[in-house]
Amino acid sequence: MLYTLTLYLHILSAIIATGPLFGIFPLLNRMQKAPDDQLQSYVIAIQGVLRAVANGGHVLVPTGLLLIWFGGWSFSSFWILATIVIMLCSLLFMARAFKPSMAFAQSDEFTKIRFIKMVKTATYQYILLMGILLWLMVDKPMLW
Ligand code: HEM
Repeated sequence: MLYTLTLYLHILSAIIATGPLFGIFPLLNRMQKAPDDQLQSYVIAIQGVLRAVANGGHVLVPTGLLLIWFGGWSFSSFWILATIVIMLCSLLFMARAFKPSMAFAQSDEFTKIRFIKMVKTATYQYILLMGILLWLMVDKPMLW
């Protein structure tokens, strides 16, 4: 029962940590055509999306650790180690890719085209990262 509930929360948080990212593309498309006085509201909307993604990530990690414990998985099994390493990279990535884009939006050098390009690239890369994690979770490859 506790295992099922934790797994449910884990999968729900995985959805929250990934799903909203797909909402960024239509926002960027609309931002491209928006007048200059509306640009900051798009930046705020994208920040909101990223906050939801980060909150999902904060629940993913503790529930994932609980599942390792409840399921009797070993920290030295390939898929668990790979997940933890990639998850740490994704936290670094959040800091290195999205935070500079948001800082850029507040800076004097801000240009719409460059901001859209930065956020689009970071979003594609983050989705790829979450896709790899999802594959590790579902397939649980054991290389050793
Ligand atoms: C620190 C990060 C994570 C850890 C330690 C972790 C750990 C685990 C563990 C131990 C299980 C249970 C496996 C089982 O007993 O069958 C699990 C299931 C699952 N995880 Fe994660 N996870 C993490 C991150 C993620 C991420 C980022 C995603 C999605 C992108 C994700 C999606 C899933 C899914 C969909 C399942 C269900 C798979 C199944 O039942 O076959 N997890 N996770």
